[in-house]
Amino acid sequence: MRVVAVMNYKGGVGKTTLTANLGAVAASRGLRVLLLDLDPQTNLTFSFFSIDDWHLKLKDNNRTIKQWYESELPGRDTSLADLVVTPERVNQVLSGTGGRLDLISSHLGLIDIDLELAARLGGATTLDGSKRKFLDLHSCLRNALRDNHFAEYDLVLIDCAPNFGIVTKTAIVASEQILVPAKADYLSTLGLDYLVGNCRGLVQQFNDFVNHKGGTRDHRPIDPGILGVVFTMVQIYSQQVTAAQQVYIQEVLVNSRVPVLESSIRNSPRHFGDAGETGVPAMLRANSRDEVVREFDQLADEVLNALELASGDQR
Ligand SMILES: Nc1ncnc2c1ncn2[C@@H]1O[C@H](COP(=O)(O)OP(=O)(O)OP(=O)(O)O)[C@@H](O)[C@H]1O
Ligand SMILES: [Mg+2]
Repeated sequence: MRVVAVMNYKGGVGKTTLTANLGAVAASRGLRVLLLDLDPQTNLTFSFFSIDDWHLKLKDNNRTIKQWYESELPGRDTSLADLVVTPERVNQVLSGTGGRLDLISSHLGLIDIDLELAARLGGATTLDGSKRKFLDLHSCLRNALRDNHFAEYDLVLIDCAPNFGIVTKTAIVASEQILVPAKADYLSTLGLDYLVGNCRGLVQQFNDFVNHKGGTRDHRPIDPGILGVVFTMVQIYSQQVTAAQQVYIQEVLVNSRVPVLESSIRNSPRHFGDAGETGVPAMLRANSRDEVVREFDQLADEVLNALELASGDQR
């Protein structure tokens, strides 16, 4: 099982679209994929469930990640495995591929829980106590994904909120790799080094605490890799990236320490404009000759190869 966080605290850069469609393409290649929606906006969940179904089947049945994060220590009262659901419409389309797409739903109320979790980090009376608290809280998702139930998945993709709150941090600690969707514009590229620096800072703090007494058997050092930046919503004219965007892409390639994937995803409102309405990600509905389908295929090749999940690799 490989765990990948899709994150960027810049909003609206295509994280959720990428998570839903990359997950769908991976599943269509026969992989068992779990999508984990950690964004209170709940957009990934609503890409697969109608609002009515979400209320009836998930929210009212307490089958959302909010229940999980709100116990005294996340996961103490609810098992993460009990929250897994199999969205019907997309899995109908996937039937015959051997693949499957499961989901853990988010909840609009997760935003309050995130703030509460931050408050809970205070309050320890000793230095060792506060380190232990930090490690227990930040490791919660990582430890929960170790449950045997999750061993059946090839790939777990975590859609993070556009922030660096505690819930996002638990996703980073749980992940082997981090994928960073970004737009090729000034504000999006400006923050990339800072984002990666913050991730590295978290990893260093976590590992320092593990190595200096705070850790127990449940706490091991972490080393999530930066899989790379994926440029999304790229403007193409006459089969070329526009000169304006090329400047920003070049700037990241030359001056940033963040790796950039070869694949990118073009701007295509025709494909992504109705995200969620059908419950089936656009890449499973589109014409296979469309350029953007080819781009998502290439992205899936690149990501799955890097994760050693491409067909023929040992799973
Ligand atoms: N390649 C694309 N072409 C055209 N529109 C796109 C593309 N990718 C995403 N979009 C649209 O851009 C908007 C933002 O995308 P998305 O919700 O995936 O971003 P996000 O990073 O998850 O946002 P947030 O930070 O709010 O969670 C959505 O309306 C989506 O349909
Ligand atoms: Mg999103």
